[in-house]
Amino acid sequence: MNRIHLARVAGCVALAAGVAAGTALAAGEPYRETYPRAQIDPARGVEGDVGFSDTIQYWRTEQALQRHAGWVGDPQQQWKLNWKFMDLDRIDLHPGHFAVETGEARAAALAKRDRRFLSCLGEGRENLAGLAAHYPKYDAALGRVVTVEDRIESCAAAAPGEKVPQGSVANNEISVWFKSLSAGKPIRVDIGDPRLLAAYRRGEDLFYAKTGQLNFACASCHVPGSIMGHKLRGETPTTPFADAAHYPTYRTPVSMLESIQQRFARCHGQMRTQALAPGDPAYVDLEVFMTVLSNGYPVSVPSAR
Ligand code: HEC
Repeated sequence: MNRIHLARVAGCVALAAGVAAGTALAAGEPYRETYPRAQIDPARGVEGDVGFSDTIQYWRTEQALQRHAGWVGDPQQQWKLNWKFMDLDRIDLHPGHFAVETGEARAAALAKRDRRFLSCLGEGRENLAGLAAHYPKYDAALGRVVTVEDRIESCAAAAPGEKVPQGSVANNEISVWFKSLSAGKPIRVDIGDPRLLAAYRRGEDLFYAKTGQLNFACASCHVPGSIMGHKLRGETPTTPFADAAHYPTYRTPVSMLESIQQRFARCHGQMRTQALAPGDPAYVDLEVFMTVLSNGYPVSVPSAR
């Protein structure tokens, strides 16, 4: 028996022993390595970036951004602003603003077809202001954690005519409009709800799980000591804190609105990992994880990236 064969046998024995001891993989589960964990305390919300990337001092407030406005365009420094300078309309009126209007018109058209649409969106409330800041949330009637985009899809499903699936232009536009009604309100995902905290933990596991042909985790690019802050094919990955605050966003490089879950799919593409469809439970968990990392930060919609 040659050495390679011996090593293989030893590996199989070790794996079998692990399975027997209940430490290794459940049947059918793929083998996964993980990226070393960063210490993130969900209770700190966006302030968890202190001691993480420590860039929050540059983008926490508009004043902080103003002080560092000279960094815009400087490849060494700009990433530290977490692209938040683009939330301040420093760039021209962008199509994200028009999306608020088209989204409102689409919502009105849906309400015309089915007058329950708006009350469904507001969960019985007429005034929709501030409501989006509490998403994702657990919905007892649906029996699952819902995102704004899921809410829009399921409320529209009752109306006759065209459906508004997550990931569609119509869904993103209505989402931008609905979230714009909460602009400036601090994000408050309720991690006191055990179902949200469980989703957060699952999302956290996904964030550190290595997948795909490159065996990258989200963390391989988005935590300190990784590629974060270093150039990667013309882009520089930034801290994951406060990202969820500005989604859906208008993406200038591709000239379209993109939900945060569509952004996950784009990053999965960069990782050569099979992307999932918007609304997939794994993406919902990742969105919960990332939105908790935005807790306390104002909803910043419309925005452009
Ligand atoms: C190969 C490196 C890489 C990996 C791995 C990666 N990303 Fe990214 N990601 C980037 C780059 C580059 C950007 C664009 C710069 C930025 O905003 O951080 C980005 C942007 C993002 C954004 C948008 C930030 C914003 O402000 O709009 C989110 C959200 C995001 N990534 C989440 C994830 C998640 C979740 C995963 C794992 C499923 C992941 N990324 C994996 C490189 C990566």
